[in-house]
Amino acid sequence: MTDRTRLLAPDVTFRPAELADAPSFAAALTRNRDYMRRWEPVRPAFFYSVEGQSTRLTALLADRDAGRSMPWVLADAEERVIGAFTLSAIERGPFRNGRLGYWVDADHAGRGLATAAVGAVCDEARDLLGLHRVEAATVTDNVPSQRVLAKAGFEQIGTAPGYLHIYGLWRDHHLFQRLLHDELPIG
Ligand SMILES: CC(C)(COP(=O)(O)OP(=O)(O)OC[C@H]1O[C@@H](n2cnc3c(N)ncnc32)[C@H](O)[C@@H]1OP(=O)(O)O)[C@@H](O)C(=O)NCCC(=O)NCCS
Repeated sequence: MTDRTRLLAPDVTFRPAELADAPSFAAALTRNRDYMRRWEPVRPAFFYSVEGQSTRLTALLADRDAGRSMPWVLADAEERVIGAFTLSAIERGPFRNGRLGYWVDADHAGRGLATAAVGAVCDEARDLLGLHRVEAATVTDNVPSQRVLAKAGFEQIGTAPGYLHIYGLWRDHHLFQRLLHDELPIG
């Protein structure tokens, strides 16, 4: 446990991702491959390997160190990864914005974990990262994800045609944002 570990349920923690999570990520993404296929870009087989996840996490953690991203995981009582939440494309200056992506293991669906974790991401985005805004986008028929964002205080701000290449096609997405504070963008 780190001092940035939060308990989201009696058996589930929310904490920053580490390189040591790579084997657990590979196992969870392989386990959930069919469950998430509809909402994800098409991935090469390498993505689902420990080496693939080590490569991905190394790049992500370098991005974090450069202030451009912040990756968190949900972990179960055995410290296995059961979800991931990432702020990427972080920009400062007058924008102070991050782009949110996430998934939760099918075995833990419907427990309110994504909603609680998105709330924790927004707290840390405001209090640790000094961001003003978090944005997210969902395929137009991803109702569970839209429910998560609505419950976590996001508002829909529009719909973008052909926004991301998901499950083999350029998909229309609903766009959401949550404003975190109205302080001046100093620093
Ligand atoms: C979207 C996702 C993160 C939700 O995780 P979760 O921990 O189950 O979310 P929560 O339990 O906090 O909330 C889920 C909400 O969706 C609702 N929901 C679930 N399936 C639904 C369906 N088929 N139709 C309508 N609502 C549905 C739940 O009832 C709940 O809303 P409620 O509290 O109003 O009842 C998870 O389903 C997932 O990882 N999906 C695959 C990847 C993905 O879509 N990522 C997001 C890309 S934008």
